[in-house]
Amino acid sequence: MTLVKQYTILPANFINDLLATDALADRRELLHCGGKGRTGQVRNQCEGTPPMTRSPLLRSQVNQILRRSDEFIRSFGFSLPPFAYWSPAEMQARRAEIGNIIDAGLGWDITDFGFGKFDEFGLFLFTVRNGNAADLARGRGMLYAEKAMISRENQGSPMHRHNIKAEDIINRGGGTLVIELYGDTDGKCDRDKGTVVYTDGGRRELEPGHKLKLQPGESVTLMPNEHWHGFWGEGGDVFIGEVSTVNDDLTDNVFEDPAIDRFSGIEEDEEPIHLLVSDYDTWLKP
Ligand SMILES: [Fe+2]
Repeated sequence: MTLVKQYTILPANFINDLLATDALADRRELLHCGGKGRTGQVRNQCEGTPPMTRSPLLRSQVNQILRRSDEFIRSFGFSLPPFAYWSPAEMQARRAEIGNIIDAGLGWDITDFGFGKFDEFGLFLFTVRNGNAADLARGRGMLYAEKAMISRENQGSPMHRHNIKAEDIINRGGGTLVIELYGDTDGKCDRDKGTVVYTDGGRRELEPGHKLKLQPGESVTLMPNEHWHGFWGEGGDVFIGEVSTVNDDLTDNVFEDPAIDRFSGIEEDEEPIHLLVSDYDTWLKP
């Protein structure tokens, strides 16, 4: 099976800001449209610059990221649940008993946001628990979710907000987690608008584009339809915890650049060691 998707790279302001850092200076020419991309508006294509295409993640890359991420998480004394280590064949054999895992979208999740440059734009996630929307509608029950995530040093997650999900983003260890924040106007990222956030319960008023720096142990609460946020690791890879409202990643993420993909295409160049959440539909059909 081969899943190949072609993407066009569509820079957003966050990406321009990230590319302005010295650490990524050598990549500006590749993704910065020759310097034409820095404006106050999201643009679908830099003027006069032909669209760039990208390659999907290779399964061999995904396997390598899983191994490295598992080792990093374990270095903090955090253990993933048993189903994390089941092989694809074992998940298929257990299909009848793991409906809740599949329906809740629990498990491994790796994205390059459609850029094909995982080291520069990407995020590792493992959804440890997740409730269901029906309980949310009832106002009681499993209204919560938990993720373990890793932002590598200078690896950006693009500017976005959420429709439903409130999330506490927690630096569990490693480097500094930098979160860039803007306010919201009518559902759009307002780059002229600051915001108010609570960090470990304390109220903070922030100017537009403030780069909140969370050290290990520190956290911030981000509210849906209010806090636009993009983030990356500084000074090292960061082990991140997320405690949130029950979450559907297929519908809840709104990116400033609407062309950004939450999930990555994968090209199968070797067997998966473990399935990603985005593999379940293909590999675990009832
Ligand atoms: Fe978020």
